Amino acid sequence: MPKVRVHYFSSTGNSQLAAEVITAGLQRAGWEASLKDIRTLKIEDETEDIISSDLIGFVFPIYAFRAAIIMEEHIQALPASKIPRQVFFAATYAGYLDRAFMRLRDFLVPKNYFPVAETTLICEDSWTAIRIPGTMYDTGWPEKASLKRLFDFSEKNIPQIWKQNADSPKAAICWVPFNPITLIAATFPIAIRRGKQFPIFVKKSLCTKCGKCASQCPTGRLKMMPFPKAQGNCIGCYGCINSCPVEAINTWFTNGRSRYRGPRLKLSDLLAPESQL
Ligand SMILES: Cc1cc2nc3c(=O)[nH]c(=O)nc-3n(C[C@H](O)[C@H](O)[C@H](O)COP(=O)(O)O)c2cc1C
Repeated sequence: MPKVRVHYFSSTGNSQLAAEVITAGLQRAGWEASLKDIRTLKIEDETEDIISSDLIGFVFPIYAFRAAIIMEEHIQALPASKIPRQVFFAATYAGYLDRAFMRLRDFLVPKNYFPVAETTLICEDSWTAIRIPGTMYDTGWPEKASLKRLFDFSEKNIPQIWKQNADSPKAAICWVPFNPITLIAATFPIAIRRGKQFPIFVKKSLCTKCGKCASQCPTGRLKMMPFPKAQGNCIGCYGCINSCPVEAINTWFTNGRSRYRGPRLKLSDLLAPESQL
């Protein structure tokens, strides 16, 4: 039975849902598949598991036209492999991913990991700075139909691609046409955030010091002191802003915007008997 490990990062739940669907699809195809949250995965402890896997999947959100920094760092930290290994990508995003896959491929190929498949899942936009209720950013995505497509891709296409590449894996060409809009957009504040200067503003009059923001911070650098305070670089996932139940945390342009609270569906909605997978 081939063994696959799905490494994921998710701030507001879309990528977690995608990772669960993919894992369930691969299990249905007869694979020994398991899910690992990269926030708790220590590469030193997992090296054996990683290098004995037949396939590794990376599932992550797109932030500022790239894979979330935490996933880029995770991929850069993987041990080089002696033999060629197959990997795949699945990104959740709101509509624009630009060269995100190409960047990851460039980190992986020199280490003998070959991205042979990639897929995406369109989701609601968790970038609170642009969310306005009732507009295109408040969509209800992903829907059951798109989750089903992801499930089918995992159950049918991934195993088939894996077999085709078994002898000599070749990286798929992640070609993205040149787009001047990206270049302009990338110079906006979000790019500064990627430079690791991401301010968090806390409204002390609203904050109940519940600690939800700090407990979900993927870097562990948001501390309760006694109000939330960032103690180092931030990866800009908006997790603290979106998870605050009283909307006491803000950054640039988020004041008064509706927060993204996560996908409306769960894996069990898809796997329920009436959904006839
Ligand atoms: C800071 C930030 C930047 C984002 N940038 C993009 C982007 O460049 N392109 C895009 O399509 N979606 C973008 N999004 C939307 C997320 O990729 C999308 O909502 C994703 O599904 C969130 O995944 P998660 O729930 O697993 O954290 C951004 C979200 C955040 C919070």
